[in-house]
Amino acid sequence: MAEFAGRVALITGGGGGIGRATALAFAQAGARLMLGDLDLAAVEETARLVNVAGGEAHALRCDVARPAEAEALVQAAVTRLGRLDYALNNAGIEATQEGTARLPNEAWERTIAINLSGVFYCMRAEIAAMRANGGVIVNMASALGLVGFAGAAAYVAAKHGVIGLTRSAALEYATRGIRVNAVCPGFVETPMLERAGVTSDPARRAMIEGLHPMGRMGQPDEIAGAVLYLCSAAASFVTGHALVVDGGYTAR
Ligand SMILES: NC(=O)c1ccc[n+]([C@@H]2O[C@H](COP(=O)([O-])OP(=O)(O)OC[C@H]3O[C@@H](n4cnc5c(N)ncnc54)[C@H](O)[C@@H]3O)[C@@H](O)[C@H]2O)c1
Repeated sequence: MAEFAGRVALITGGGGGIGRATALAFAQAGARLMLGDLDLAAVEETARLVNVAGGEAHALRCDVARPAEAEALVQAAVTRLGRLDYALNNAGIEATQEGTARLPNEAWERTIAINLSGVFYCMRAEIAAMRANGGVIVNMASALGLVGFAGAAAYVAAKHGVIGLTRSAALEYATRGIRVNAVCPGFVETPMLERAGVTSDPARRAMIEGLHPMGRMGQPDEIAGAVLYLCSAAASFVTGHALVVDGGYTAR
């Protein structure tokens, strides 16, 4: 898309499944990229894939749960690439898979710190960087930001929080050229689900697939497409929206 040519996009969690797919999609559309991730080797690999394909991507190690590191990532985008047009706050960790009454403090705190506070720290810095020229922020929520899931209380609470944060910031900047939206994927085949034991165990895989009326999980590319749509001029009147991309998961 010509409108992305030369523009700058920042992606957190750029070393992972959805982050990497979105980085490649942005690069293919002509955007230049600043990628952050806790896992430096993974995000450097994404940058390498983008650069080999003829794009421009820079990789930085960043823990989004640390405000100073989130701010440094945003600053690096502006310093190295000269501007910030789009930001995808996507870094996140999987659910602990423990009942609420047995959920340890550390698991609760870590999930909220990364999946909710991390989005806030990044968004705060991105809004400051976008004030001059406007921009678009997309926060990675989940279908589990809209409905509950047994054994995932902290994850579900964090993702519901991301949608609230998105709507509030959208209202604050609606007249100032900054659109803020969220994406709510169903289950997507990424390393996160491998770690959670969903994709490797045939019985669990079939159970999760069966939760989606389409009878399958999503692919990272299908989420990347939604992110690019929200960033594009085609979505110029869309703000404060939580876009469901879930194969019908939340439709019933
Ligand atoms: N895969 C799914 O089924 C699914 C569904 C809905 C929403 N999501 C959300 O999509 C986002 C991406 O998930 P994914 O499935 O691609 O997972 P993934 O594990 O493949 O990628 C997540 C990336 O985030 C990075 N990360 C983790 N903690 C971090 C931190 N503190 N600071 C910076 N980076 C950090 C990881 O190193 C990893 O590269 C997450 O927010 C996740 O909650 C995933």
